[in-house]
Amino acid sequence: MTTATTTGPVTSAVGTSYVRLEGRDKVTGTARYAADFPAGALAHGWIVVSTVARGRIRSVDDGPVLKMPGVLAVLHHGNAPRLQEDFSGTFGPDATTQVLQHDRVPYAGWPVAFVVAETPEQAREAAQALVVTYDTEPHDVGFRFGHPEAYTPESTAVGPARTDKGDVEAELAASEVVVDSRYSTAEEHHNPMEPHAAMARWHAGRLEVVDSTQGAYATARDLARLFGLDPASVHLRSEHVGGGFGCKAQVRPHLILAVMATTLLGRPVRVALTRPQMFSLIGHRSATAQRVRLGADADGRLRALEHTALSATSTVREFVEPSAAYARSMYDASGHRTVNNVVRLDVPAPTYMRAPGEAPGSFAVECALDELAERCGLDPIALRARNEPAAGPVSGLPFAGRRLLDCFTEGARRFGWAGRDPRPGVRRDGRWLVGTGTAASTFFTGTFPATSAVTACADGTFTVRITAADIGTGARTALTQLAADALDVTLDRVRVLIADSDFGNAWLAGGSMGTRSWGWAVTLAARELRERLALGAVVPPDGITVRSDTQQAVSSLTAYERHAYGAQFAEVAVDPGTGEIRVRRMLGVFAAGRIINPLTARSQLTGGMIWGLSMALHEEAVRDAASGGLANADFAGYHIAAHADVPAIEADWLDDPDPDDPVGIKGIGEIGGVGSAAAVANAVWHATGVRHRDLPIRPDRVL
Ligand code: MOS
Repeated sequence: MTTATTTGPVTSAVGTSYVRLEGRDKVTGTARYAADFPAGALAHGWIVVSTVARGRIRSVDDGPVLKMPGVLAVLHHGNAPRLQEDFSGTFGPDATTQVLQHDRVPYAGWPVAFVVAETPEQAREAAQALVVTYDTEPHDVGFRFGHPEAYTPESTAVGPARTDKGDVEAELAASEVVVDSRYSTAEEHHNPMEPHAAMARWHAGRLEVVDSTQGAYATARDLARLFGLDPASVHLRSEHVGGGFGCKAQVRPHLILAVMATTLLGRPVRVALTRPQMFSLIGHRSATAQRVRLGADADGRLRALEHTALSATSTVREFVEPSAAYARSMYDASGHRTVNNVVRLDVPAPTYMRAPGEAPGSFAVECALDELAERCGLDPIALRARNEPAAGPVSGLPFAGRRLLDCFTEGARRFGWAGRDPRPGVRRDGRWLVGTGTAASTFFTGTFPATSAVTACADGTFTVRITAADIGTGARTALTQLAADALDVTLDRVRVLIADSDFGNAWLAGGSMGTRSWGWAVTLAARELRERLALGAVVPPDGITVRSDTQQAVSSLTAYERHAYGAQFAEVAVDPGTGEIRVRRMLGVFAAGRIINPLTARSQLTGGMIWGLSMALHEEAVRDAASGGLANADFAGYHIAAHADVPAIEADWLDDPDPDDPVGIKGIGEIGGVGSAAAVANAVWHATGVRHRDLPIRPDRVL
């Protein structure tokens, strides 16, 4: 690790490793997260969730609870403030915002009441004592292949639900080798280190909110819409956020309830979710059931590719896990079809989770390619090289850089892939069977409009304001580096203020587009300011401020197939006696645009790879058919890869600047989690000779 000096001349901060600027504040407890903000006369809320999976609330017996010590209020559908019906926010219609608005229960874990008290302990005790009765209805939480009520939705968050090119059946019939396999992935749940929390109060005529959110501006705007408020009267901050990755991209029930309560009580109200509540209130990744059909000539050249994916959504909000979008940019074939289907069940509404679609979709497609390589007698990397497309397979657009094969070449060299014995199940290390696997990786890159303001202060320092969010990834540090370079000053003269809705519109920390979208706006403003100063502008006492808005630049971008690419490698050891799988090492080599901060970039990429390892071997929410709830909604039952599960893991990258971005950024937030589960599963096959097409590959499945 190298840490650049913050004094003296710096020619380029971008590309140099820096520790997170707020790191010391975080490890010393100085950094304040949403639940840490003090307020006078603070009241505390506790959410009560439904214990049944479908039906209507018959009664909320708040009388006895209101007499309990410290209890200030019990909100429920009979007395809660009304919200905007048919609410549609940044991510479209979202009826999961309609908390305490009606008596319907759409799933187990739905908010049915909100207890507010003087202390969190009093609120919790009262919430646990609150008796809610229900008229239940039969529910269906059973996700499976070929569910009779599955349908093809109008569209998905990342494009059309379905794409078709050529004649898949004819090409399959003409193929010499056909792979037709079914894959499944488990329901996965968001578990950032910091559970969702918010504090809300009215102050000087404005609603002042601190929330754990990936996008302060979007959340404030959506909150205003939901409560029918003037957007200018809502001020939302989220200076430090302990992880997000999709679950903190939207207005969530805790925030809505805190605003309701502070409005009714006239006191600041804080609410923090418990870990079990995280499993029903903030979205998850649906289980998937996928079928991949590949048809190829004997030399491995694809003639047909069909990917059909099914995921589950809720009855209140349609969210489609777009797994079948993966092959649209990755592999071409004369007959090419991708279909994302969905089924409405009585389960919580799923949402974006790191690499939505690509993570489970790449597992299926990259495993199917491994099967095809085996059938063709080809090395898996050679198979991919043989199928490298010249343009976007579905879009027909030129690539904004595609160094996939370079990633494989460099990865193979570093991993020691050359000379790999392709035969499965033949390498022993004591009681362990050992194998290696590889898979490709990709994630789309894009830019959303952002505004920023850069001020030259009279004391020679610079202040940048932008409604960015740093969910722990190092975004604040990266933006400081970008601003320093654009201003041509050292890092210690630049102060970046983020996560304040008053700073104006900016995209949120999501879709691997945060740093790119914000960095663009900051770079434009900072460069213009530097030019003005170079022309001799004199800085008055209140400074010189330059504002930028990338709306126009972003809307006039060249049409490209815009993606980052990577190659994933894994080595595993499998104990055939116990079914235990140990990942021994992982390597990812990526071509993902200009890298701003190697230290935090590596952390992001390996974090994604660990997410894939965790998907392959550990994570699985188990839904109980009888109750409709989860059997393992906590860290004791829901297994996430821990330190002991994460072996030698390395991520590196090739130079790959984006052709349009002013600095060449593409985005690295999600690509690490794409293909990594497939690399592990392919290594398990190589170790054992058994194809595992259902994740997680638990010990009982190995045996
Ligand atoms: Mo990420 S799923 O775009 O927060």
